[in-house]
Amino acid sequence: MSFAYDDKDRVKQATDLVDLTSNYLQLRRQGSIYVANCPWHDDQRPSLQINPTRQSWKCWVCDIGGDVFSFVMKRENIEFRQALEMLAERAGIELASRPRAKTVAGHPNDKPTLFKALQWASQKYHRCLQDDPAAEPARRYLAARGINPNAIDQFQLGFAPNSWSWLLEQCRDVGFSPEVLQACGLVGRSEKSSGWYERFRGRLMFPIHDTQDRPIAFGGRVLPEIAEHEESETGRPPAKYINSPETRLYAKSDNLYGLNIARNALSGDRHLIIVEGYTDVIGAWIAGIENVSAVCGTSLNQRHIQVIRRFADRITLVLDGDEAGQRRTNEILEHFVRANVDLRVMTLPEGQDPCDFVQQYGAAEFRQLIEAASDALDHKISIETRGIDLIRDTHRANQGLDSILQTIASSPASLGTTSESRLREQQILTRLSQLFQIDLATLRERISELRKRQKRTRHDAGKHAGKQRKTLRPLERELLQVILRDNKLIDQAVENISPDQFVEGICRDIYEIICACYHEGESVSFESLMLQLEDPELKHMLNQLDEESQTKTSMTETRLSDQLNQLIVRFDRQVQELDRKQAISTLSQSELNQQEESKILERLFQQAKERQGNQ
Ligand code: CTP
Ligand code: MN
Repeated sequence: MSFAYDDKDRVKQATDLVDLTSNYLQLRRQGSIYVANCPWHDDQRPSLQINPTRQSWKCWVCDIGGDVFSFVMKRENIEFRQALEMLAERAGIELASRPRAKTVAGHPNDKPTLFKALQWASQKYHRCLQDDPAAEPARRYLAARGINPNAIDQFQLGFAPNSWSWLLEQCRDVGFSPEVLQACGLVGRSEKSSGWYERFRGRLMFPIHDTQDRPIAFGGRVLPEIAEHEESETGRPPAKYINSPETRLYAKSDNLYGLNIARNALSGDRHLIIVEGYTDVIGAWIAGIENVSAVCGTSLNQRHIQVIRRFADRITLVLDGDEAGQRRTNEILEHFVRANVDLRVMTLPEGQDPCDFVQQYGAAEFRQLIEAASDALDHKISIETRGIDLIRDTHRANQGLDSILQTIASSPASLGTTSESRLREQQILTRLSQLFQIDLATLRERISELRKRQKRTRHDAGKHAGKQRKTLRPLERELLQVILRDNKLIDQAVENISPDQFVEGICRDIYEIICACYHEGESVSFESLMLQLEDPELKHMLNQLDEESQTKTSMTETRLSDQLNQLIVRFDRQVQELDRKQAISTLSQSELNQQEESKILERLFQQAKERQGNQ
């Protein structure tokens, strides 16, 4: 409960779940609820239900559900805090309390200030590109490369004049200190003179936006004329690109260039094309291909996958064709396979990048090329076998084969039973068998061995995550349902049952919040509990428990109080039982001295007597 209840309440009151979800899904009315195809599984019938009265949603198939906050968290793959901020912004609500360290507007630690400063700087660069006489070389360069005014506007391209202090001279007038610009990654402090200097000078500016359309960083490309001039002065050519450093708002592996635009073109088949350069994204956009984004001055890695998963299920990676890039891609392939992302890889003819290609041959050709991209596994096979004599060089051949089999074994799709994935696996194994001259049976054996090993490790890792929910203990479940059904019974429950008596974690977490609310004199309705809880899993559980309690006919008003009394007894017994088991295991395991041993035995004996008396 780290966020002010008021804030959450206000945002929730101001947000209608039906309205919110209708922005993402095709809703259909069905009696008193709405239904839609669930975006989180391959839904044939609409299995996502939205209940307008309860303001709750759920998908029975995925076993998930919750309220407005957990919907946004799931959909955008963000934390509670971000979901709260997003919905607050959507509803035009100013959040009273910020949970993290208190920050002051104008301070370099204050994120909103940094967002504003970057927005301001981006606009400055953009206007400069459009109007400033100094930006003439940049305008000429863009025109020569076929980047038109529409694209300049869409991508908010800009120009940073060739000066050490262009932004610095203007920033104070609008209330940004040099320290703020530094925290944005726009200026640095020189060690010698301790003065400020600007990072981007005489460069074409590509602002990098987050998926909420806010500029958070820049890539700055040198212009040919300026590069020549600089080289003649310093004797060496300047870097083609200078990129923003990582800041509080920007991490290069958590952001993709142009994803803010591409995401709007992904709603259909959720297919994202990833290219290497800023200009490639823009070139493709001009040609009408909008589902394109680029990694920023780094290679595609595992952190990118997290971001991409929010928006896409299928990725085609278009490589400019240098060897190093392909090797790196190979390294992360397994992560894609495991994340169940359909990854295809395509290499352009040498010396060409997507921007040139699409300008030269047009969008249709480019699309054709994309469709012909090979499956990532094929790509992997060709990399692992390149330049190796597979028959004679047995050592290297074996290494390559192992690496390929490892990737195949990590695929959840091929673990499945769909005939398509089995067929696909069959094809690949046949191919490997021919390539490496190893019989199919041996390959199958090795795969199943690898799978078993991976399954074991995955199982250990997942033990605590997924399973818990399914094994809610009936006793604890029933108690929560009784409380939800009749709020008046809360006193009786809280006074007789403590959260320590819960064995199962999820129910205990919920019950702890119920107790806290009770002690603070807050109401303990389904609605208010839903607001107190921030963890989506707890919300989902609460939602489920409440629905079940509403439909259980056995829970009539008069019987609820009796039921609770019985539950209290059963809870006491549960504790005793656990105590007993613990005592027995202590007795049998450890080396106790006589005195300790007889103490434990005495307690067991006492308990047994009490149990008999109760029955
Ligand atoms: N890059 C970089 N630093 C460099 C060179 C490249 O960060 N010194 C990154 C940039 O993100 C760039 C991408 O690698 O967009 C691809 O590089 P390149 O193909 O050289 O640049 P393009 O953006 O395609 O620019 P252009 O087409 O104008 O050459
Ligand atoms: Mn390029």
